Amino acid sequence: MHIKACLFDLDGVIVDTAKYHYLAWKELAERLGFEFTEAQNERLKGVSRMASLNILLEIGNIRASETEKIQMTNNKNKRYLEFIEQMQPDEILPGVLPFLESLKKAGIKAAIGSASKNAPGIIEKLQISHFFDAIIDGNTVTNAKPNPEVFLKGALALNVLPSECVVFEDAASGIEAALNGGMKCIGVGHSEILQNADLVISGFINFSIDRLMEL
Ligand code: BG6
Ligand code: MG
Repeated sequence: MHIKACLFDLDGVIVDTAKYHYLAWKELAERLGFEFTEAQNERLKGVSRMASLNILLEIGNIRASETEKIQMTNNKNKRYLEFIEQMQPDEILPGVLPFLESLKKAGIKAAIGSASKNAPGIIEKLQISHFFDAIIDGNTVTNAKPNPEVFLKGALALNVLPSECVVFEDAASGIEAALNGGMKCIGVGHSEILQNADLVISGFINFSIDRLMEL
């Protein structure tokens, strides 16, 4: 298969911000009086901020008004930003930088396709913006994953067809988004959670462009 572009989810693929999102949601759940487990957190990965809150409230069996929900997401985000404030380029996950460099050398385009409104700030902290030809994030997308909007906008920005793209994702909702968009998808993480991906890798160490051609 001829791959012209790679679209990367950010949280959990390039950097492990997923743990900070989890901690911030867990604190909110505790304030609301219920336990929130890491297994339940899987449902929030890749999902937009408000959609994540709705899942959390459903898990805790809690009703809230729109105003309360806005307050809750604002508080959660404030806490999340405190967690990531000190983030440095050394938090980029192992093998990611060499892989991004190899894409550049091979002339394969790259974009970020993230649900996060914090994506621009994180990319700046990690000093990786020069690797990407486009950044599509939660500020420009209206339909959350598993809707393919974020990746279709990425393909459009890169001027390639969906069938010429490979998406890298750590969330089940993101895998569905890629497949719904007619793209190939590589799951980064555990195969039990990412079983619908075309290929699952545990990380980018020893992962090379050659493997893209096998898809
Ligand atoms: C995704 C994360 O990348 O972004 C989700 O996987 C998160 O956990 C979503 O809820 C929205 O992020 P943010 O930074 O806009 O709250
Ligand atoms: Mg993710």
